[in-house]
Parts: sequence; structure tokens; C-alpha cells
Amino acid sequence: MSLVPWTEKYRPKRVDEVIGNPDAKRKFVAWLNSWIRGKPAKKAALLYGPPGSGKTSIVHAAAYQFGWELIETNASDVRSSAALRRRVFSAATQGSIFGARSKIILLDEVDGVNPREDHGGLRTILELIEISQYPIVLTANNPWDPRLRELRSLCELIEFRRLKKREVMKVLAEICRREGVDCDRAVLSAIASNARGDLRAAINDLQSLAMGRKRISLEDLNILGLRAEQATMFEIVRSILTARRPEQALGVLRLPSLDYEMLLQWLNENIIFQYSPSLKAISDGYDALSWADIFLARMRRRQKWVLLPYALQLMTAGVASAREKPPFKFVKYSFPEKLRRLSSLRNKRENMKRVLTTISQKLHVSTRVALLEVIPYIKIIYENDTSNAKNILNSLGISEREFKAAFY
Ligand SMILES: Nc1ncnc2c1ncn2[C@@H]1O[C@H](COP(=O)(O)OP(=O)(O)OP(=O)(O)O)[C@@H](O)[C@H]1O
Ligand SMILES: [Mg+2]
Repeated sequence: MSLVPWTEKYRPKRVDEVIGNPDAKRKFVAWLNSWIRGKPAKKAALLYGPPGSGKTSIVHAAAYQFGWELIETNASDVRSSAALRRRVFSAATQGSIFGARSKIILLDEVDGVNPREDHGGLRTILELIEISQYPIVLTANNPWDPRLRELRSLCELIEFRRLKKREVMKVLAEICRREGVDCDRAVLSAIASNARGDLRAAINDLQSLAMGRKRISLEDLNILGLRAEQATMFEIVRSILTARRPEQALGVLRLPSLDYEMLLQWLNENIIFQYSPSLKAISDGYDALSWADIFLARMRRRQKWVLLPYALQLMTAGVASAREKPPFKFVKYSFPEKLRRLSSLRNKRENMKRVLTTISQKLHVSTRVALLEVIPYIKIIYENDTSNAKNILNSLGISEREFKAAFY
């Protein structure tokens, strides 16, 4: 099932709706004003800081609010400088297609430009800043990469910090209000703590919990531990399947107690939902996963633990690097069907064992004989003359419910 992601639906439309980071906001607006007045000290601004703190959002909000045309490129998507040139250079030097309107050029995630793969990608950006007649905004999570030194020197550096828990909760509460979802404060608090300042993650978690409910209580967050486990598996699966760069997916390997066998099952169940409708992405994703499965099997069979890192890389970065990944859509991940069946099979087997043991004790036969020579007759009787069968089961000390749970 896919819906509009709330992160998009509630993206701020005005700069003052961007929550938190007052210093960054002030600095950014001052820099934009210096463009409006004429000559800015720096032609580009580099907004940097942790994920989900509002870097991309503030640029969108400013463009919207000032009525400027937004030329947007995800720098890591631009695999060659030729493509970057084509898309952005003409925009940076020509008048707006909307007449006198001004423009703002956003190069999102410049730290994702890989200089080895992308010869001249950074050079191209430097050149772009030099010739542009319009403000250029760059964003990055890590601006301190030495390769970005020259770029840094050309930019107004604006730091975004992790949002405070209180700020995250405020946004979540407002979304609940607008969605008509009644949510315990304790739940909002738990989501916000868990997100550690990443508002995108917090909003996504809230949307997962709100699926199909008008009320979210603490039990919803934490029904029997199983739920808690699922909630964290949701996050792990989401961070792999929606990673914007394969390297980002590696982050989950830092989790202290990652259950990778479980993760394999979860990915197996959910790749198809997140990657559809792109058949190519689905096929690439499953391809990487199947290699991971092969490595894991060899590792177990031959006790070759050195294979584990390969399996883990394939499972995370490998799956995340599926090509032609469709744009992010909101998907509610589901529990692996295989595990569900295994666990219901396990229950059934246990029920069978219990009934067979009872019969074997009563009739002094082995459980094998009970299974092969007693049960078939009871089944025939049960299907033809239920009340008589009930009497027989009764005399054996077996309830009808037990019998049905084991053999039907
Ligand atoms: N400060 C904020 N105020 C309001 N909403 C925010 C803020 N920060 C993030 N959001 C919400 O979270 C979503 C993701 O934020 P955004 O894209 O701005 O993060 P980012 O800082 O660019 O992160 P990344 O480094 O991962 O690109 C937005 O669509 C918006 O819904
Ligand atoms: Mg961003």
C-alpha cells in the first residue's frame, strides 16, 4: 500500500515554518537578502548538518515563499559532469523561463559526489558557482571531507544542528492534529527520543504507527515486545530500501544487535513493495539478496565466518544499489510470511506431539503407531459421526479443540 509520505505532505512552505535552528535560519535569510540587494559576499551557501534537520526543506520553503523558481539537482544523482552542466549551467546563466522571476539553484548532497567515479564533478560545481547569476545552495551531511576544501572556501557556511526532542514532538503533535489522529504524548515522546533529532525518521515512524488507526496508544508502540521488535525492524528495512546512496545503507551494520538472518527475511518480504513498479530495481534487489543468502549458507555450512562481511554488504549496500530505484513512497512493511508460517507450523507440530503422546500413553502404543494407525480412524469417525468421535476423544483425555488444532 502506498500513500503520500507525510514528510512531503508536511514539508514547510515558509521559512518560519521550518522548526528549530534559529541561527541557521537567520544566517540563511540574511544571505538571501544580500542577493536581493545586489552583491552577496559569497555566491553560494553550504548548508550542512545531520539528516532530517531541515536543510533541503528550508531551501524549498524560501523558494516558495519568495516566489523564486527552484532548480533542483541531487548532486549524487548527477553521475557525470556533462549531465550537471546540461541541467544547471543554462539555468544559472540565463533569465528565468518565467520572465523576471528570480531563481535559486539547489545542489543537494554534494558530499555524495564521488570524485573517483565522477571525474570533474566537483570542478564543475566550482565553475558553476563562478559563473552563476543566481544564488546557489549546496547541502551536505559531512562538509569536512578534505576534497570539499576549495568548495567550502567559496561558500557561506551554515550549520544545522540536530533538532531538539521538544521541537520534534511539536511537529509530530501538529501532524497528529491535522490528520485527526489521537496520540498519547508518551508515544510522541518515544518516537522523538528514538529519532534522535532526525525529523524525517520521526515523521515516518509516526505514519507507520498511524496506519489504519485514529488513536495511537502506548500499547500500539509496544505490544508484547514483538511490536517493539517490529518497530525497529521497520526502521532498519526502511533505511536500507530507501537509502539515497548505497553507502547510507551500511549504517545499519553499526547497530549493536542486528539480527541479520531476520533482516534477510524482512528484506525478502518487502523489496517488492518498496521497489515496485520498477522491475529492474526489484530484480537487482533480489539478485543482491540471493547472493547474500548464498554467502550466509556457505558460512554456516563450512564455518567460514570470514564470509559474513560479504553477506552483510550485499544485504545492505548491495540491495540499496538496485538501479532505477523509484522515488520514495510510503510503504508499510510486513512481517515475513515465511516466519509466520514456520511459527504456525511449529505450533501445529507441538499440538500433534501432545495429542500423540496422550494416545500412546493411554493405549500403550508408540507415537508412530498412534499417528499411523489410530489417528486415521479417529479422523474418519470424526468426519462422519462427530458426536461419537467426541466420546472417543473424551475417553482418551483429548479435547476436540486440541485434536482439531493438531490435525486440521
Ligand atoms: N526543521 C524542520 N522543520 C519542519 N519540518 C522539517 C524540518 N526538518 C525536517 N523536516 C521534515 O522532515 C523531512 C526531511 O527533511 P529535510 O529533507 O529538510 O532534511 P535534510 O536536512 O535535507 O536531511 P538530509 O541530510 O537527509 O537530506 C521534510 O520533508 C520535513 O517534512
Ligand atoms: Mg536533504
